[in-house]
Amino acid sequence: MIYLDNAATSFYKPQIVQDTVKDSLNKYTANPGRSGHDLSYMVAEKVFETREKLKQFFNAKEHEVIFTKNCTEALNMAILGFLRPGDHVITTCYEHNSVLRPLQFLKSNGVEVTILDCDLDKVAQLIEQEIKHNTKLIITTCVSNVTGDCCDIKSVGQICKKHKITYLVDGAQSSGHMQIDLQKCDVDMYAFAGHKGLLSITGVGGLLVKNDIKLSPIMFGGTGTDSINLVQPTEYPEGFESGTIATIPILSLSAGLDFLIKNFDKIQKKEEKLTKYCYFALKKLDFLKIYSKENAKNVITFNIKNINSSTVANMLNENFKICVRAGLHCAPLVHKKLGTQQTGSVRVSLDFMNTEKDIQALVNALVTINQQNS
Ligand code: ALA
Repeated sequence: MIYLDNAATSFYKPQIVQDTVKDSLNKYTANPGRSGHDLSYMVAEKVFETREKLKQFFNAKEHEVIFTKNCTEALNMAILGFLRPGDHVITTCYEHNSVLRPLQFLKSNGVEVTILDCDLDKVAQLIEQEIKHNTKLIITTCVSNVTGDCCDIKSVGQICKKHKITYLVDGAQSSGHMQIDLQKCDVDMYAFAGHKGLLSITGVGGLLVKNDIKLSPIMFGGTGTDSINLVQPTEYPEGFESGTIATIPILSLSAGLDFLIKNFDKIQKKEEKLTKYCYFALKKLDFLKIYSKENAKNVITFNIKNINSSTVANMLNENFKICVRAGLHCAPLVHKKLGTQQTGSVRVSLDFMNTEKDIQALVNALVTINQQNS
């Protein structure tokens, strides 16, 4: 089996992550932040260490870490918790439905939404002209999950800072794959998934939010604090983590971060080299239409002319045991821009465990599929 679907979730979990999960199931199964016994405190300490590690990893000294179950929940928390009727928000056509759908919901509640239709790498040049007196939030993905295009978040962050507008970045596809410095980039809120580039098991994501931003909670319940009060506390992070948090996934994330910190340069270099190798190997196939650019981040998207993307993905799976993702990738507006709204596209997404051999196997399989269909 060849796994080329790492943008959906990373297949390889390092040994340290696997060992941590096993170890935690024996040692850290108490509920942190609730009971007052030693075991509960011990787990709480481990969770606290993970928050600190995340702040260090993303250079986010002024941010709080809210754990969520995934990146989607973190984005919902930021968007629904921040925007109010009468506010204006600017975003891009590269966003995932975890941004577009909450915004669509807010549109019917009096929030004005502008969606930039330009290339993701041009957003920083064009966004300023869309700013209005009531623009409160700018949202961009850091890396497109469809094309691997990157947004210049540093430049967008500077524009946001200049106009005193809050900046939210969707880091689902960038985290663990590139150096992200929230302080340097003036990012106010950053949503991430644990189970992709950060190498944790599924079940944890999070929102890094600057501690002077006041979000309204979108989930209510027990926080282990101020229990007499029927009003939801709004302190970070407890006010935004109602209910029992996902301890084992969080501890696996901590181990994933340890692995990344140790191997980051090597991983980045390997992924960059491999993505370029893949891009040029696919570029040689004249029957492919490639939508990604040469500098794409870990993701290459294409179609075999005249064949639906799902058909290609199914054939890769069934006949060649190659896992890719086809269709719209929950990001319909970028497909509209690419002209692939009807067909979708085939997406190959790599990580550092893939090899040139995997890509050669993909190339050979695509040649065969094309021959069989012409
Ligand atoms: N959003 C994830 C993807 O792009 C699941 O596949």
